[in-house]
Amino acid sequence: MRHAIALHVLLLLGALVALEEEPQQEERNSVNVSVVTWNLAEGSPKLSDLRFLEELGEKSDLICLGVQEIENLTPRRQEGHRCREWRRLQHRVLGKDFVRLGHHSIGSIHLTVYGKRELASRTKLVKMSDVVCGVGNVLQNKGAVAAFLRVDKTTFLFITAHLAAHQTKVAERNGDYWRIIGELEQEIPPAWIKRAAKRRQKALTGTAAAGAAPERAAHGGERSVFLDMVDRVFFFGDLNYRIDLDRLDVQRGLVAAAAVAGGGGAAAGGRGGERGRRRTAIVPEACLQPLPTSSPWVKAAAAKPSLQSLLDFDQLTLERSRGGAFVGFSEARISFPPTYKYDKNSDTYDSSAKMRAPAWTDRVLFLPHQPAVQALDYRSVQTARHSDHRPVVGTYKVMLTK
Ligand SMILES: *[C@@H]1O[C@H](CO)[C@@H](O)[C@H](O)[C@H]1NC(C)=O
Repeated sequence: MRHAIALHVLLLLGALVALEEEPQQEERNSVNVSVVTWNLAEGSPKLSDLRFLEELGEKSDLICLGVQEIENLTPRRQEGHRCREWRRLQHRVLGKDFVRLGHHSIGSIHLTVYGKRELASRTKLVKMSDVVCGVGNVLQNKGAVAAFLRVDKTTFLFITAHLAAHQTKVAERNGDYWRIIGELEQEIPPAWIKRAAKRRQKALTGTAAAGAAPERAAHGGERSVFLDMVDRVFFFGDLNYRIDLDRLDVQRGLVAAAAVAGGGGAAAGGRGGERGRRRTAIVPEACLQPLPTSSPWVKAAAAKPSLQSLLDFDQLTLERSRGGAFVGFSEARISFPPTYKYDKNSDTYDSSAKMRAPAWTDRVLFLPHQPAVQALDYRSVQTARHSDHRPVVGTYKVMLTK
């Protein structure tokens, strides 16, 4: 009798242990990936600006940091002081729990990949590459840096880029995109290509694991073969796409969105008492004048008085939907104000003579979409203000393949 009870207790304990292990088992089939893009505008952030990175460290297995304009472009033989400082800050914030898996740069574009220590034995950085897109495809002020990486059997490609600048240069940005994709296609490790071919063969003969085929079929549309050879792709950076509206219409849109969000929220991004002050700060007198009904934003906003009325004119979204670039990529919903161009150390959009229109230049795109990659968070960091750009952070739950 005693024996029987003891056995029951043991079985019960066994069941409890099994229950406890279940979530861990589930965890092993996915990793949390955080991606950061930040145009540093040739300045160093303060340690206190990196609180967000500390928070990312608590919930991420992989962290990829892509920065642009870390230094000015004078040729130098040694690492510049801002690069050193950026490395020191990262180490200070992430060094305890993370291993630096790799780092590579061209000109002022830097990519650094960190992996949680517990994950280190399952993660392999296969290689890093770069593509130059500046003037004549020689000048290293524009281009991309990429990391080819594996977690268990799942292959990842992280691409950070700085694409062509200026409001009207959409075609040049699209051109940079295709050039980057084309060049990186040549860099795919042969073992990845073989594996992808094998899996395609399996899918054709119907023996593929359930789920693999629908995941790939779901994209639809025309896309680079390249993207079929890598399981998970993240493309992020200062992609430089603007809003196809003039400055006044963008500002009107932000003011309207702020009003919809409750007098601050989405567009102001400030805290508490700062809201009122900030709202007036970004609204010049001219915004308060009656609007000409021919204004494109006025027409759009009649239907959607929120950030959406501006996103309807976002060049990147428009290009994606018409197949101009980033075909097949997804992006999480944008609920943060444009991340460019601020007066440095302020919450005010460009008040210089150039009066550049605010834009969502800093973005994170990924592929494939749900359920393989699920966005958990997508936001700008409004408190990090040394640059004329705000950092943008995306966090994703990424399913691993068998
Ligand atoms: C991944 O993110 C989710 C949602 O934030 C969190 O609940 C989970 O604990 C994270 N996993 C790890 C390993 O940090």
